[in-house]
Amino acid sequence: MACIGVLDSGIGGLSVLREIHRLLPDYPTIYFADQKHLPYGPRHPDEIHNFVRAICEFLFDEGARVIVIACHTASAASLLRLRDAYPQIPFVGMEPAIKPAAERTRTQTIGVLMTQTTAEGALYRRVLARYAANVRVITQVAPELVIMAERGTQHTPEGRAILRRYLEPMLAAGVDHIALACTHFPFLSEALQSIVGDDVTLIDPSPAIAQQVRRIWPADVVPSDLPHRYFTSGDAQHFQMSIEKLLGYSMRVLNVSSVALDS
Ligand code: DGL
Repeated sequence: MACIGVLDSGIGGLSVLREIHRLLPDYPTIYFADQKHLPYGPRHPDEIHNFVRAICEFLFDEGARVIVIACHTASAASLLRLRDAYPQIPFVGMEPAIKPAAERTRTQTIGVLMTQTTAEGALYRRVLARYAANVRVITQVAPELVIMAERGTQHTPEGRAILRRYLEPMLAAGVDHIALACTHFPFLSEALQSIVGDDVTLIDPSPAIAQQVRRIWPADVVPSDLPHRYFTSGDAQHFQMSIEKLLGYSMRVLNVSSVALDS
């Protein structure tokens, strides 16, 4: 039952999952949305790590042979500790897409949208030190956008006002690329693009993550012939509707309240 395990606090990781399905259509996936604890962004990294570790244990039991931490916040809080705890498991984590933004910018000014925990993490500091020495980076912590993406309220007048509040300082600073450093944000792309205009490029790291999954899948493991599976620690019916809306699949979702996520 070898499959790819993918996790996030909610719908965000579906933006990564859709790229994995595109690139690796014959690989079964198992997706876990920890919607009971959403949003992760304002939580302490140790608390997030405890949730993520329990979810990984669940995914291992269900046959995951590679784990994708499809959440920048959880990657910032937990990726290094997971690699230490499970050295035999290949993990793929999210890294703010500073490198491609810094390589492509013509204005030498780039923007990044992310959560609080991601902005404060050592991973982000490392990425900035490594790739952003010669560019100006406008970092915007945007906590409301996670809930906005979950609820799909980006096209309402209130939603657009919030998006403008986050984007206008970046536009005033002259950014020409914006890294979407939260996996929820690609689902806001249409609304974001309509505000920033065609001269600004939004960078979604998901296609690169799917490539990375293909590279690290263990050569001796045959992907099993299973359907894709979906779990949430929140409301299964609601998550099922989100999958239908965002990915266009009609899939049954199971609630997993039995996983010891609160430990
Ligand atoms: N998708 C998560 C990320 O990439 C959202 C974090 C949250 O739940 O606040 O950061």
